[in-house]
Amino acid sequence: MNYEAVARAVTAIAHRTGRDHHRLAVVLGSGLSGYAATLPGAIEVPYTEIPGFPVPGVAGHAGSLFSAEYDGAGVLVLAGRVHLYEGWEMDDLVLAVRTAVASGCSTVILTNAAGGAGDSTAPGDLVLIRDHINLTGRNPLFGPNDDRLGPRFPDMSTVYQQQLRDRARRIAATVQVPLGEGVYAWFPGPSYETPAEVQMAKRLGADLVGMSTVPEAIAVRHMGGQVLGISLVTNFAAGLSETPLSHEEVTATANACRDQITRLLGALIPELAADAGGETGAAAT
Ligand code: HPA
Repeated sequence: MNYEAVARAVTAIAHRTGRDHHRLAVVLGSGLSGYAATLPGAIEVPYTEIPGFPVPGVAGHAGSLFSAEYDGAGVLVLAGRVHLYEGWEMDDLVLAVRTAVASGCSTVILTNAAGGAGDSTAPGDLVLIRDHINLTGRNPLFGPNDDRLGPRFPDMSTVYQQQLRDRARRIAATVQVPLGEGVYAWFPGPSYETPAEVQMAKRLGADLVGMSTVPEAIAVRHMGGQVLGISLVTNFAAGLSETPLSHEEVTATANACRDQITRLLGALIPELAADAGGETGAAAT
């Protein structure tokens, strides 16, 4: 990853938002971007106006960054992400989260829509990601390492820190949103998995299957940031129900769960922004 590309985006965001520091970032996944509209007094910057930012091409994924403030703590909300299956390079997939961490965000909340593969997961469930399995054979850290971003061989033992998950669960309970917990398997897409692939993922220990999040989590961890991963289960994974899978079902479930997601993020964001004062390993400016 080109460190200068991150630094350019950091500078542009500081210039456009008038805030040179943010503490917490939130990436909104498929069908969840509508949450951004609920942010009080947020400043919107379209991705097209941030140098190097890739612009999503998928229905249900917007393409704007929002900067909001809670008790003096800046929060970046990234409404829309790009995926491997769109043909983007790994560097493109992680530029936004790298920029967020370099802008001061020591914690990044990554949300996504996922298929439920676990025995106790059902559509509509919100699940904290405990760990992930990378089934794509790709990694955002391929290529020369820039030590200004992080180490060559970063530890991935605790990508999704237990302390942060426990805190998130306690905050969610205050707004009556139950949170499960599970392992997320990253498939490349864009075709949904076959039933045999879902069975394989289950046997490997996965409870959730999806096409995003993992490269971002790796990049944030590489830079010393903390990750909170939240999956909205939008459908039973392939073969676990009679219904054929469709993107329409994914976005319809996400829309139906809008209130719950708004309640959850509305509680998590101010609390975690207040916590996230710690320094991360890297700052681009
Ligand atoms: N598989 C992969 N990605 C997904 C799914 C799924 O079943 N549902 C939502 N995103």
